Amino acid sequence: MATVDLKDVKKVYPGGVEAVKGVSIAIPDKQLCVLVGPSGCGKSTLLRMIAGLETISAGTCSIDGKVVNAIGPTERDIAMVFQNYALYPHMKVYDNMAYGLRNRGMPKDEIDKRVRATAQTLELAHLLERRPRELSGGQRQRVAMGRAIVRSPKVFLFDEPLSNLDAKLRGQMRVEIKNLQRQLGVTSVYVTHDQLEAMTLADVLVVMNAGLVEQLGAPLDIYEKPASTFVASFIGAPPMNLLPLRSGQLEGAVSLPAIPTNAATIGFRPEDCEVGADGAAAEGGLRLMARVQGVEPVGAESFLYCEAAGGRIVVRVPGRTAVAVGDQLPVLTRREKLHFFGGDGKRV
Ligand SMILES: Nc1ncnc2c1ncn2[C@@H]1O[C@H](COP(=O)(O)OP(=O)(O)O)[C@@H](O)[C@H]1O
Ligand SMILES: [Mg+2]
Repeated sequence: MATVDLKDVKKVYPGGVEAVKGVSIAIPDKQLCVLVGPSGCGKSTLLRMIAGLETISAGTCSIDGKVVNAIGPTERDIAMVFQNYALYPHMKVYDNMAYGLRNRGMPKDEIDKRVRATAQTLELAHLLERRPRELSGGQRQRVAMGRAIVRSPKVFLFDEPLSNLDAKLRGQMRVEIKNLQRQLGVTSVYVTHDQLEAMTLADVLVVMNAGLVEQLGAPLDIYEKPASTFVASFIGAPPMNLLPLRSGQLEGAVSLPAIPTNAATIGFRPEDCEVGADGAAAEGGLRLMARVQGVEPVGAESFLYCEAAGGRIVVRVPGRTAVAVGDQLPVLTRREKLHFFGGDGKRV
């Protein structure tokens, strides 16, 4: 059982780089918290401060209600899984998993029991005698996780653990990590720049930007109500369409919704567009004429890349489409699917 509590945590590196500028996150027991954001936004720095691998410049990090700022990494009872696995190449899988326990002076039969039980959980039992180079990428990643799990730590920390795997394996491992985390009930912090990974894994999703938290909440709540244009364009693929409102009007719009006075940008998701729809559905909604510039059929759906109202938008339609480049289409978004943002980029 463990909670992780960050209060106004900051990090200034010796060179003067302000990597984390005041972050507060409370992670409840047994929950999986995902930190997502573009490269360089401070995710790894924050994770390394929780691990005790980086000093905390200001603020506090508490584990189970106890401030750990001054406590070394080994005493924090945390296990970390990295992108590059960091397995010992000359050691068998068994020894890679047993290494940390031996270092702690655990009795041999207890180590054996734990390693074999963990190997069972991770379906590694038949690979215990192999060396890392004799394993696939997914198996190596599983060994790296096994090495973390075998210690039964209070908290798991993951730093982009799946980035080295191909897309298919990444999808499988994502499901495995989620199930495993549920099953073990270990409070976890998971760092990724991949919004899909973040959405699917998180109990608590934290969107970071330039050393600060842009938004924190349940993944679907964030998806449905992004707090800023930054979040709107980061979460969801393809991202939300954002069009500037010039003096309250949208160039060439067929029909316009009532626009909040302080709105500077209107947003709508590609999947919330109805093509060719009209009539009653348009009431109070946004209706644009779009000129198709590109069509991307991906099987289950097709993406139409269009020019509309002086900007570019993406429209998502199910399955095959007869739409071709050069077509002019009416595109409708219902009132309740529209998002408005102010001049500062914040939701209004
Ligand atoms: N050891 C370091 N010394 C100085 N600056 C660093 C160090 N590590 C990271 N940074 C800087 O801190 C910022 C955040 O980095 P990082 O936490 O690695 O971001 P992320 O993991 O989100 O990509 C970046 O500007 C990076 O260049
Ligand atoms: Mg990083």
